[in-house]
Amino acid sequence: MAHIVGGISTSHVPLIGKAIAQHLQKEPYWKPFFDGFDAAHEWLKRIRPDVAVVIYNDHGLNFFLDKMPTFAIGAAAEYANADEGWGLQTFAPFPGDPQLSWHMINSLVNDEFDVTTCQEMLVDHGFAIPMALLWPYVSKWPVKTVPGCSNPVQHPLPSPARCFKFGQAIGRAVESYDKGLKVVVIGTGGMSHQLDGARAGFINKDFDQLCMEKLKHDPQALTRYSIPQLVELAGTQGVEILMWLAARGALAGNVAEVHRNYHIPISNTAAGLLVLEPA
Ligand code: DHB
Ligand code: FE
Repeated sequence: MAHIVGGISTSHVPLIGKAIAQHLQKEPYWKPFFDGFDAAHEWLKRIRPDVAVVIYNDHGLNFFLDKMPTFAIGAAAEYANADEGWGLQTFAPFPGDPQLSWHMINSLVNDEFDVTTCQEMLVDHGFAIPMALLWPYVSKWPVKTVPGCSNPVQHPLPSPARCFKFGQAIGRAVESYDKGLKVVVIGTGGMSHQLDGARAGFINKDFDQLCMEKLKHDPQALTRYSIPQLVELAGTQGVEILMWLAARGALAGNVAEVHRNYHIPISNTAAGLLVLEPA
């Protein structure tokens, strides 16, 4: 059977793509951020997952405000990366695993998550940047991928509780697949940030730290927030922490923390990284 070997959550700021393209990883601005990934690389080298299920949010590339699924799953053989407007260099296409995707889709619908199925899907910085952070400068992506999307953009947003349940359903879907694959679940977005409006530049370190702590041992605590509370505490875009909550939901049972990093700011964002594995 397929098995979830761990969960990694990370922020997904477009500017990181420019730093990667320009090899700025050791510059003072970037070093505390990029160095935080060394331990994740070590863990990935040790665990060697076959597949990454990447729970992220699209920013107007594959979906736009006119048609916005609350939950979507990719079911393509390949996912091309494209830039939704930041002028980013694009990464090589990401290999899919349509068989696993369709198994997951069947399992999710059976589990009352009526996902939008995407047999063609472009992936933006929310997907590509975390992949490039976790597997830097590879000539060939070492994992197959299944994109999972949720919507922290166009209200009404799914509640934290619903996103956590989405992740739990993804966990059940993966663990019921009859191939012996090692699957890492990646959540991207957050941490606290607000890009527009009167609170542009808003960051909430205390809340971010609380989220990291709760994600480890008491994720249910985060499911009790309402969306307005989450927007107030994390910022209008910081509500992307919903993706972390979904990824955490996929890890059933107790977890152990492998590594964490937290650095303010990267662009307008409090950048976080959390690596968890089954205890
Ligand atoms: C930034 C952060 C994001 O999550 C995003 O999607 C775009 C921009 C930023 O901090 O610049
Ligand atoms: Fe974002």
